[in-house]
Amino acid sequence: MQSNATLRAISKLSVTAAVDETYRLVKAQQRAGKRVGLVPTMGALHAGHLSLVERCRRECDYTVVSIFVNPKQFAPHEDFSKYPRSLEDDLAKLAPLGVDMVFAPTVEDMYPAGFDSYVDAGNLAVPWEGEFRPGHFRGVLTVVLKLFQIVPADLAYFGRKDYQQSLLVRRMVADLNLPMKIVVCPIVRDSDGLALSSRNVFLIAEQRRQALSLSRGLQLAHQRFGDGERSGVKLRELIRQTIAGEPGVEIEYAAVVDPETLVELPRIEKTAVALVAARVGSTRLIDNELLGKDE
Ligand code: PAF
Repeated sequence: MQSNATLRAISKLSVTAAVDETYRLVKAQQRAGKRVGLVPTMGALHAGHLSLVERCRRECDYTVVSIFVNPKQFAPHEDFSKYPRSLEDDLAKLAPLGVDMVFAPTVEDMYPAGFDSYVDAGNLAVPWEGEFRPGHFRGVLTVVLKLFQIVPADLAYFGRKDYQQSLLVRRMVADLNLPMKIVVCPIVRDSDGLALSSRNVFLIAEQRRQALSLSRGLQLAHQRFGDGERSGVKLRELIRQTIAGEPGVEIEYAAVVDPETLVELPRIEKTAVALVAARVGSTRLIDNELLGKDE
């Protein structure tokens, strides 16, 4: 049940599914000299998303949030149909933040009959998430490029929790000369360290406790790196063992990689990123930690 103030704020929020109208409104804002920011999401908003929105609000004059659960980035065996959807709650969270527009298209708005063009995601999409989610980044980059065309913002905000995704989006923007600045924002964690994710709602209490092994492994690696450990192999094994020590968690990958190429680093010369993915029950979680590198 929303409070009267929230209902009033929601009623002032401009929510649209209309592709052409959205484009026209955004262009009109830019012609009026406004800096437009876009926060692309799949909804089921949590404090991580809201931190992107708040940053966008601080840095831009006009904030657009897109909410679209993109079927093209889910493989047939994945959780598209069961992915959490909560448009009313999402709007109630966005309205008080002063968001100017919510673009919430349907699948038919985004992929009308006959749709058949995709972005080829290239080599950065091959390892890690790419290995476990074939076709995922093709779907992500295709929808992100479409969103950038429909909402031709000046800046777009992504979370660093999806490290490989944010790297691929930056790569696409550079490679295809898209006139957009990509801002990658820090991971938001619960007080116990669990990285916020829309999929956390699927974890029952015991699984949620088991899931903490991901952030614990990464945190240990971060501390060991701070103490001077530079062997990527040892740091990777530390993460692996920490996660493997938790029954009920099935690790998909743990890796210490170059932040730009995603190639595994046996030895860290300067900076690295530790990446992990694991299944807790049927819920798939990812997390990462920067080593020797600022946001
Ligand atoms: O990170 C997400 O929520 C999605 O992958 C994105 C970027 C909104 C594209 O569907």
